[in-house]
Amino acid sequence: MSIDKADRTAASIHTPNLQAFREVVESRRSVRRFTDTPIPDAVLADCLRLAMLAPNSSNLQPWEFYVIDSVDSRKRAIKNCMNQNAAKTSARLIAVVARTDNWHDHAKQVLREYPVNPVPKKVKDYYNKVVTLDFLRGPVNIVSAAKWGTIQVIRRAKGPIKSPYYTFDDVKNWATNNAALAAQNLMLALRAHGFDSCPMGGFDEPAMKKLLGLGDDHHIVMMIGAGARADNGIYHTQFRFDPDQLVHYV
Ligand SMILES: Cc1cc2nc3c(=O)[nH]c(=O)nc-3n(C[C@H](O)[C@H](O)[C@H](O)COP(=O)(O)O)c2cc1C
Repeated sequence: MSIDKADRTAASIHTPNLQAFREVVESRRSVRRFTDTPIPDAVLADCLRLAMLAPNSSNLQPWEFYVIDSVDSRKRAIKNCMNQNAAKTSARLIAVVARTDNWHDHAKQVLREYPVNPVPKKVKDYYNKVVTLDFLRGPVNIVSAAKWGTIQVIRRAKGPIKSPYYTFDDVKNWATNNAALAAQNLMLALRAHGFDSCPMGGFDEPAMKKLLGLGDDHHIVMMIGAGARADNGIYHTQFRFDPDQLVHYV
């Protein structure tokens, strides 16, 4: 049986529990104060594994997670998180990082680890050619300029065509989208394990990158403080705008 078929069969046998999902989503809050209950390594490892099951573009997995455990690094990381309570009281502090530089290596790795052997030609072509064309920018974006011109011509002549990535910022957005989905999986997984989290955009990225030894091709998408919620860990009742304002059926 092919992998695809096996996966579909498994999905039809095992129907996920909607109520359990609702409970995980609805009980997740941004928790700003945690108790001193530790998160066991095995629990965190499972949460990170679930984080990495997030959907991601072409399965290129341009994310990384830095669990800041050493006492000295933690002290500096907390300071870089502007001494927020969510960092200060966290049992674990995690940097979710998007990588802009490893799409090529990961494309090759996908082909090495592809679960169908031999790898179908169209999959090989996709990772060797389509992905390369999508991301390649060349020195001073010279390849991007050629791609841009070609895309305009094709779009006019043949209709819709997916825009490739032209600039560093395009690739950064791409990698960030992927890493943010993993971050959300991570926070929901923590909740499902009975723990809590707080995503933090309020941190000094250059200082945090220096601390973690990260270069220009690493972008810290968010810091996540995690632990068990303290009684005073939630600051106010959760509320959201009316869906009528934000959901458009077109
Ligand atoms: C990208 C991002 C950055 C955030 N940054 C911070 C932060 O620096 N500090 C903080 O206390 N909460 C931060 N939050 C949490 C939000 O304030 C919170 O999600 C929002 O108020 C809704 O509350 P809820 O998560 O409890 O539903 C951030 C959330 C996101 C998604």
